[in-house]
Amino acid sequence: MKLLVTGGAGFIGSNFIRYILRTRPGVSVINLDKLTYAGNLENLAGVENHPRYSFTRGDICDRRLVSEIFSRGVDAVVNFAAESHVDRSIMDASPFVETNVRGTQVLLDVAMECWRERLPVQGPGPAGRFPVFVQVSTDEVYGSLGPEGRFTEESPLKPSSPYSASKAAADLLALAYHRTHGLPVIVTRCSNNYGPYQFPEKLIPLMITNALEDQPLPVYGDGLNVRDWLHVEDHCRALELVLFRGRPGEVYNIGGHGERTNLEVVRAILKLLGRPESLIRYVNDRPGHDRRYAIDPSKITRELGWRPRHTFEEGLAATVEWYRQNRPWWERVKSGEYKDYYTKMYGESLR
Ligand code: NAD
Ligand code: TYD
Repeated sequence: MKLLVTGGAGFIGSNFIRYILRTRPGVSVINLDKLTYAGNLENLAGVENHPRYSFTRGDICDRRLVSEIFSRGVDAVVNFAAESHVDRSIMDASPFVETNVRGTQVLLDVAMECWRERLPVQGPGPAGRFPVFVQVSTDEVYGSLGPEGRFTEESPLKPSSPYSASKAAADLLALAYHRTHGLPVIVTRCSNNYGPYQFPEKLIPLMITNALEDQPLPVYGDGLNVRDWLHVEDHCRALELVLFRGRPGEVYNIGGHGERTNLEVVRAILKLLGRPESLIRYVNDRPGHDRRYAIDPSKITRELGWRPRHTFEEGLAATVEWYRQNRPWWERVKSGEYKDYYTKMYGESLR
């Protein structure tokens, strides 16, 4: 089975590629990644020469390139490629609309063209049939919760940030291609991930690396916003199940009952590292800051038997240890040196 993974040099994509090469001997992976600031080939160090792996640097908005890749015989797509950071979307929404919306549309169009003879795949359809197009989305499309309740697949879409609005637009396009053209699309909506190789602009790796450098830890607003944390490996396993056994046309929420306030997370990190709470700095709140996310994962548990394996306490401790052990990785990310890895491998500069 030939699998196109887009955005495979990012945090979740690179964890997914490592995972699928390890668990699925029948799968070959093509990684298409533009290598934006968030793409880092060091995340895939050791995988480059794997016999079932290849990398192409390019943009999912480039229809000619995407068609060329599909002509190699792609059976399935997992679309991770995206601009993914809320704060950046507040500064400039353009790359979010371009990649997250238009890029997804290009992938859907090319998939339709290349899989024409294998379409339509109607209704929920039987599981485990290829081709299939997995659109990796986020719980942020549902907007913010009050103190009670959890997001189900039926919750209304009410995105708050340009990031989540662009992801919601892509979800709806993908589902519309299923409804209109019979394209076998499955949408997953996962809660906040953490784990190895996460870019240190997101809460957990930023706080760990700042604490390791005895730098201040910026907490937005009152620090009482709640996120539903899931270890990236649990997300990868959920995606594998959806890819092989999910039903086309369906949405699956993914989340691990891991609700914590930001302050609880930051304090736990400081404790694990033996650093003082005086490093915490309360800073201005993020505009439009969602108060709480919480996922009801009962559909994916019921249909596909998925359950998270990591508790937050154990997963966070392992993640803190990973950043402690892999200081050169994040120091090169923070200094910008990680871009030279590509130059060394492919002779072309990213700077
Ligand atoms: P990331 O920012 O770490 O990685 C994104 C990757 O996409 C990078 O390698 C980047 O180079 C690549 N990319 C960006 N624009 C591209 C383009 N036009 N063409 C090709 N490649 C491009 O993101 P992540 O945290 O790994 O998230 C991956 C996906 O999962 C995203 O779609 C995100 O919305 C979704 N998601 C993330 C989380 C989370 O907590 N991180 C939670 C739920 C869903
Ligand atoms: P983030 O990791 O950016 O994920 P998202 O906004 O997509 O959920 O942020 C997680 C939470 O942490 C969110 O409530 C914002 C907050 N936060 C801080 O308090 N300080 C920071 O420096 C960052 C990056 C986030």
